[in-house]
Amino acid sequence: METLAINRVNNLINQMTLDEKIKFLGGTGFVEGEKIGETKSLQRLGIPAVKMTDATSGSKLTEDHILFPAFICLAATFNPELSASYGRAVAEQCKADGFRVLLGPGVNMYRTPHCGRNFEYLGEDPYLACKMLVPYIKAVQEIGVIATVKHFVANNSEHYRKNSNSVVSERALHEIYYPVFKAAVQEADVKAVMTSYNLLNGEWVGHSKHLITDLLRNEWGFDGLVMSDWWSIYDTEKSIHSGLDLEMPSSGILGYKRIKKLLNKGIISEALIDQRLINIFKTFCETGLFDEEHQDQSLRKNWPKHEKIALETARQGIVLLKNEDAILPIKNESTKKMALIGENTVITVATGGGAGGFNPGEKLVTYLDAINGIACNQGIDVTYYKNLENNIANADIVVIFLTMVEYEFMDRPFDLSDTQKDLIKHASRLNSNTVVVISLGSGVEMASWIDDVKGLIYSWYPGTYGAQALAEILFGEINPSGKLPFTIEHTEKETHYYGNYLPENTELPREFQGWNRGAPNFDIHYREGIFTGYRWYDTKNIQPLFPFGFGLSYSTFKIDNLRLSSDTVTGDETLTVCCNVQNTSDIDGTEIVQLYIQDIESSESRPKKELKGFKRVSLKAHETKQIEMTVVHIDLSFWSEVKRDWQIEDGAFNILVGTSSADINLQASFMYFNKKKD
Ligand code: BGC
Repeated sequence: METLAINRVNNLINQMTLDEKIKFLGGTGFVEGEKIGETKSLQRLGIPAVKMTDATSGSKLTEDHILFPAFICLAATFNPELSASYGRAVAEQCKADGFRVLLGPGVNMYRTPHCGRNFEYLGEDPYLACKMLVPYIKAVQEIGVIATVKHFVANNSEHYRKNSNSVVSERALHEIYYPVFKAAVQEADVKAVMTSYNLLNGEWVGHSKHLITDLLRNEWGFDGLVMSDWWSIYDTEKSIHSGLDLEMPSSGILGYKRIKKLLNKGIISEALIDQRLINIFKTFCETGLFDEEHQDQSLRKNWPKHEKIALETARQGIVLLKNEDAILPIKNESTKKMALIGENTVITVATGGGAGGFNPGEKLVTYLDAINGIACNQGIDVTYYKNLENNIANADIVVIFLTMVEYEFMDRPFDLSDTQKDLIKHASRLNSNTVVVISLGSGVEMASWIDDVKGLIYSWYPGTYGAQALAEILFGEINPSGKLPFTIEHTEKETHYYGNYLPENTELPREFQGWNRGAPNFDIHYREGIFTGYRWYDTKNIQPLFPFGFGLSYSTFKIDNLRLSSDTVTGDETLTVCCNVQNTSDIDGTEIVQLYIQDIESSESRPKKELKGFKRVSLKAHETKQIEMTVVHIDLSFWSEVKRDWQIEDGAFNILVGTSSADINLQASFMYFNKKKD
C-alpha cells in the first residue's frame, strides 16, 4: 500500500510544474462559519481539494451535527472502548458532509485550571490520555477521516499563546508533554500533526527542525502530514526547513514569492518542496481521497447511534464529588418540590468556545428539560429561578447550575465570580439541602464554599444531549461512575503552577490575549518539571481538595486480594496484577480501579506514584469480580537527564491499587532486573 501510494504520488508530482507545486504548500483560506481549512486542488491531474473541520468533539461544519460532551468528559469515563465509539461517531459526522480531515484530537496536558482549552483535552495524566487517545484516533481513521493530533507541543495555556515561550526541561517533555504525541504516532499511526502557537525553549514550534524532523519524523517514525496551526509561522526559511508541510489556513509565509526567492537564491531546492508534497499527497492517497467521493451522506442514518454514544459518554463521565447525608439520588418519596437556580439551568452552555466550540442548535437538551422530563413522572414539582429567591427555602432540594466561559485564546480565573459564590452561600443558608452542578472543563475554587453544600457534581460541558445524563444521575436512574482526570486544588498557592504560569503581577492587557502578535514574548517556566498534578501533591505531601482519579458512586466497593504474577520481573517481561472488586451495596454500580507504580529507590527523583493501569468494572449489587491489569517494563521507566534516554533501574517497585490517586487500598512489591541474574 505504502509503496503503491508513493509511486502514484511521485508520478503525480513529476507531472506538476514548479509553480503548481509551490501553491500546494498552503491552504485556500478561512471564512468564518463557512470554511475552516481546505487544501488546494489541481483539476488537470485530478487532485481534489480536501476539506477540514474542527474538532475533537464533533464536526462543527457538518449540517445538523451532534455535539458530543467535551473531550475532558470522555477522559473522565476511563473507558477506552467508549473513546473508540466516540471517535468513530465524530468521524462519521465529518464524512457525511465531506470533511476528510478532522482538526483533532486536541491532547495538550492539563497544567493549570486557567487554560481556556482544557475542555478540549484529556486531563493531567499522560498515561490516561494515551489510553483514551489511541482508540479514538484509530477509530476516526478507520472511517477514512484523517485525525490531526494537536497542538504539538507544550501549548498548555491560552494567555499569550502567540507570544509565549514554554520553558520546559527535556525530562518533563519526555515524561509529561510528549507521550500523547508519541503514542498517537507509534500506537495509533496518526496521519496528521498540527504544530502549536507557542515557542518551546526559545523556538517557534512551526520553525523547529529539532521537533518536526529530528523528533517527530526521525525518532518517532511519523510519516504523515505536518500542518501549522492557523497563522502561526513567521519565517519562510525556518518553516520550510523544519519539516512542516502545510501552512494553514492559506499560503502566506510559504507563499509563492517567498518560496521562489529562496529557490532562486539556492537556499532551498525543488526536491525539498517535492518532499513536502509527498507527505501531503501520500497521506491523502492512503486515505482514499484521490479515488473516492469525499462525501457520504448515507452516514446520516447513524445519527441516532451517535446520540446514544453522546449520552453514554455523559452518563459514564459525569463525576459526583460530594454526597453528604446521601442527599443524592433524589428520593421521590420525600421529595415534592425541587428548586433549580442559575441561568445555566435553561441556557445550558454545552461547550467551551473557539475552534472546539459548537453551536448545539435547537436539538440542545437543557438541564431544565431533562429534569422536568423525569420529575414530572414522579409527581415532583420543579421551579426554575434565575436568581436567588426566598421561596427556595420551601423546596425539598435545591440544585444550583453554574458555568463559566472557557475559550480558546483566553484563560479564565480560578475563582467563580463573586455573584456565583454569593449565590451558593445564600442558597445554602436558606436551604441546607443544596447541591451544586458545575459545567466546565477544569477545576475551580471550591474550598471557600464546599462545606456549605451537601452535594457537588461535575457535569462538564455536556454537549447536545449530556444534560439528560445529569438528570438521570440526580434521580438515581444512572449510578455515577466518572472519575476526575485532574486534581482540584484548595488554593492556587499549594499548586505546582503557582508563580510558574504568568509573569508575576501581570495584569494581562486584553489585546495580548490569544491572537495578537507584536507583544513581547513571555517565558512561562515549567519549574515544576515532571511534578505536575498528583505527582506534585504526593511529593509535597499536600492533600488536594479532590485528587486525580476521584469520584463517588451511589454504591460502595471493596478491593482486596492483590496478587502479582511474580515477585521478579526481568528485561521486557510483563507483570500481571490481579485483585478482587466487590460491590458491597444493594445498588448496581461501576468502580474504576487504578494501578499506580512506585519506584522505591532511584538515582534520580521520581514521583511517589504514577498511573500505569486502570479498569472500569461494572458490578451488580453484592457481586464480586476478579480483575487483571498488566504492567509492561516501559511502565517502570523514566527519562534520564543524565543519559538523555529512557531508563529502568534495577531494584524494588511497589504496585499500588486504589480508587483514586489518594485512596490506595492495596500494595505489593516486586523486584525488577534489566538482565537475568546468574
Ligand atoms: C486552533 C486550532 C484549530 C484552528 C482551525 C486555531 O485557532 O488553535 O485548534 O484547529 O484554529 O479552526
